[in-house]
Amino acid sequence: EKGGFDHFMLKEIYEQPKAYRETMLGRISADHKQVLLPDLNMTEEQIKNIKNIQIIACGTAYHAGLVGRSMIEHLARIPVETDVASEYRYRSPIVNSDTLVIVVSQSGETADTLAALREAQANGAHVLAITNVVGSSIARDANDVLATLAGPEIAVASTKAYTSQLIAFALFSLYLAQVRGTQTEETVAGIIAAMQSLPEQVEKMLDQAETIKDYAEQISSHKNLFFIGRGVDYAVAQEGSLKLKEISYIHSEAYAAGELKHGTLALIEDGIPVIALATQEDVLEKTVSNIKEVKARGADVMVITHEEHVANLLKSVDQAYAIPKTLPILTPALSVVPLQLLAYYASLALGLDVDKPRNLAKSVTVE
Ligand code: M6R
Repeated sequence: EKGGFDHFMLKEIYEQPKAYRETMLGRISADHKQVLLPDLNMTEEQIKNIKNIQIIACGTAYHAGLVGRSMIEHLARIPVETDVASEYRYRSPIVNSDTLVIVVSQSGETADTLAALREAQANGAHVLAITNVVGSSIARDANDVLATLAGPEIAVASTKAYTSQLIAFALFSLYLAQVRGTQTEETVAGIIAAMQSLPEQVEKMLDQAETIKDYAEQISSHKNLFFIGRGVDYAVAQEGSLKLKEISYIHSEAYAAGELKHGTLALIEDGIPVIALATQEDVLEKTVSNIKEVKARGADVMVITHEEHVANLLKSVDQAYAIPKTLPILTPALSVVPLQLLAYYASLALGLDVDKPRNLAKSVTVE
């Protein structure tokens, strides 16, 4: 049942190229120029009338929502808020029929997300569910469903569901941009082409999966570490940190790189591992200055970046991991892969139960 893999998590990491392809299947026009979402109930009129979007989810699905926010704001220029479901409900959210609410849930059964969906509907919002289980409670109750086609996810640590959620958000953002006319046809076609290259790019990274193993063993003896990044790199940092905490029980914190010097920098001491995501060209220099700040305090820095920046960055960091080149907005679909593998190999090195970490359940049906 694990298809020759030692754990479901590793199997599911390796299923990501397939999950990407399946989630895109039938949703891109034959000429590769347009996104097609024929299952959507929402009319073009309704899409044009959206004034704001709220993305609501828990855990890893919330982290996908952070990237979704960047994608929608960047491509469709609609204001987006992303919230964890257990907070959203109790902050008397401002939600009405001008709001599109997007709930994200692998299982479709998460109690807080389901309750948030109901709250949003009671206030007149149209609710779109991005879910991996089409027969789930969330899929049943939502007004619209955009299914991720990742296949069943068994490991408690979510991997292929997260990356398929990113694909779903990219498709939906492009669809919004098409209907609302916020991007040119060329831009849309360019993003589609980049999306279609992702599965092969992930395969390439997975072919060298073990290159991260030594580093995972190295960090497994540490008690604390940091993940830093800016923009979508910060969103991926949060996902990488959660994955590591969840299955290796190593404490880590994900920080917006520019926020470090507002307090957290005090925790940086000799030898502490810092994993810096530096994939966003427009803020690369700023991230490099933040890397230098932690280096100057003795941190041991591993950078995740594009091949072309490795040589230069190695002047300021201790190690580098190169990811294939894609468009800035799509980098999370690649940069998260080494972080998933890092968590996996760290958990393995510590002899822990990778697929069933302590205290956690795959589906959280209590509030
Ligand atoms: O099924 P859901 O996507 O609604 O689950 C949400 C979270 O419970 C889930 O993503 C959790 O954070 C994972 N164990 C993370 O790997």
